[in-house]
Amino acid sequence: MRAESFHRPVKAVLPAAGFGTRFLPITKAVPKEMLPVGDRPVIDYVVQEAVAAGFTDILIIVSREKNCILDYFDRNHELERRLRSAGKHSEADELERIASQANFHFVRQPEMKGLGDAVLQAQAFVGKDPFALLLADTMILDNNGRPGKGDSLNALVSAHLEHRCSSVAIEPVAAERIHRYGVVGGRELHSGQFELKSMVEKPQPDEAPTMLDSGGQAYSHGFAFAARYLFTARIFDFLRTTQPGKNNEIQLTDAMAQLLVEEGFYGCRLPGKRLDIGNAAGLLEAHEIILKGKSSHD
Ligand code: UTP
Repeated sequence: MRAESFHRPVKAVLPAAGFGTRFLPITKAVPKEMLPVGDRPVIDYVVQEAVAAGFTDILIIVSREKNCILDYFDRNHELERRLRSAGKHSEADELERIASQANFHFVRQPEMKGLGDAVLQAQAFVGKDPFALLLADTMILDNNGRPGKGDSLNALVSAHLEHRCSSVAIEPVAAERIHRYGVVGGRELHSGQFELKSMVEKPQPDEAPTMLDSGGQAYSHGFAFAARYLFTARIFDFLRTTQPGKNNEIQLTDAMAQLLVEEGFYGCRLPGKRLDIGNAAGLLEAHEIILKGKSSHD
């Protein structure tokens, strides 16, 4: 029996410390996680997704330039009082809800040494518990094409509870784009769930792992990580000893590949769609989807 409990996990970690170089110059002064989609920042949707999937304790990993993320999730009593005395109760209620929807924790990543290093900053918060990892610059739409229900996280939690190991959201990626992603190989067990056998960060097309469908046939396209993960705490043991890899960063994928060998690993096909807002085109797409959804509800 492993040290981890196999209750439904309640801790979620959101790395948001990166420089955001794909979105300069705006990210020199405004964190990409705080760029607006509709009337709220991207990271608000990511937190809502975690809360919808039952995560009550949320750690956001920031850097020294990102204190506005702490401000966003903190109460501002003076502003709330001002709104209420002006009769703007729904606005005040919403500000209160944002700050009280979860127990928020924050930690700084001292140097931006990559996603693996960012996740390492969560070790004291996580302890021995399993935890979800949500990239804070990526929105996930559910089955219904809207953000908010946490379908993807729920699938990861189910796989974790069923197989008692880590799981990761995956999505199909065309062969010519495979070199830009963390790529997985393995075999499909049943619709939407895959037993993983290998993982490679940003492989060249000839080193990309193959995925077999449930009939044993190789998919013509690859499968890549899709910004949502569910880890056992054992990941930290591998992260601590992982040497800088591609781009001289501590690569989460390298530690995950070792965890796979020791514990096994499952992939869950993203039920909806991934929107990477780390670049202008992704942010614009997210904005249009949210505004369209809003106007159809108005
Ligand atoms: P990215 O690789 O997309 O973020 O990491 P980045 O490094 O900011 O982006 P570019 O490539 O320079 O434009 C995905 C998530 O991990 C966080 C980022 O903030 C983002 O939410 N991250 C990345 C960290 O917290 N620390 C890091 O050292 C790197």
